[in-house]
Amino acid sequence: MVTNATIEALLGRRSIRKFKDEAIDDDTRATLETVAQHAASSQFLNDWSAIRIIDPAIKAKLAEFGHQPYIATAPLLYVFVIDEHRNARIAERKGIDPASDEFHLKYSYRFTQAQNDAVLALHAMETAAYSLGLGCVILGSLLNNIPGLIDVLNLPEYTYPVLGLAIGKPDQNPTVKPRMPRTM
Ligand SMILES: Cc1cc2nc3c(=O)[nH]c(=O)nc-3n(C[C@H](O)[C@H](O)[C@H](O)COP(=O)(O)O)c2cc1C
Repeated sequence: MVTNATIEALLGRRSIRKFKDEAIDDDTRATLETVAQHAASSQFLNDWSAIRIIDPAIKAKLAEFGHQPYIATAPLLYVFVIDEHRNARIAERKGIDPASDEFHLKYSYRFTQAQNDAVLALHAMETAAYSLGLGCVILGSLLNNIPGLIDVLNLPEYTYPVLGLAIGKPDQNPTVKPRMPRTM
């Protein structure tokens, strides 16, 4: 094996579900968000968004949807969404009907590629957070209540939730889970 700081951050990664009650400073947050934006994007459509949840009442609601109380305690909490809404508005301004064949929204390919974009952006942010000594947990559990999530986040047409990401200073030190032998 060869190693460097990036590889060490990736090999030391494990989910953190208990956070110190300390805010993440603005520079760190800006860095994490910028890193996420630098992930690859299918056809460079950038058809994802990350919504930062700051309202404690909404955090509590998301914890309820996910049946995981630690969601509400995350100093930084994002919901990554497929976002064709922004591109649809841009297309409309250029005189293209988003519902038309020309805009390709009706094809599952666009949906899955946008989902891939969102996941890659989330993973870039997660890796950057670990490299800075922060801890994270990815939150699929939010999708236990997709209609509720769409409602509470007021998600517009042509958007769809993908995953949450909770970030904070770790207040636990779980071991890295063993992986299968690589040849498997
Ligand atoms: C798509 C996805 C969804 C996940 N959803 C949750 C979740 O809702 N709550 C949670 O506590 N962990 C969640 N996890 C974390 C996994 O449980 C965790 O990555 C896995 O058990 C391996 O442990 P490790 O991250 O410590 O290596 C999720 C992970 C992924 C990749």
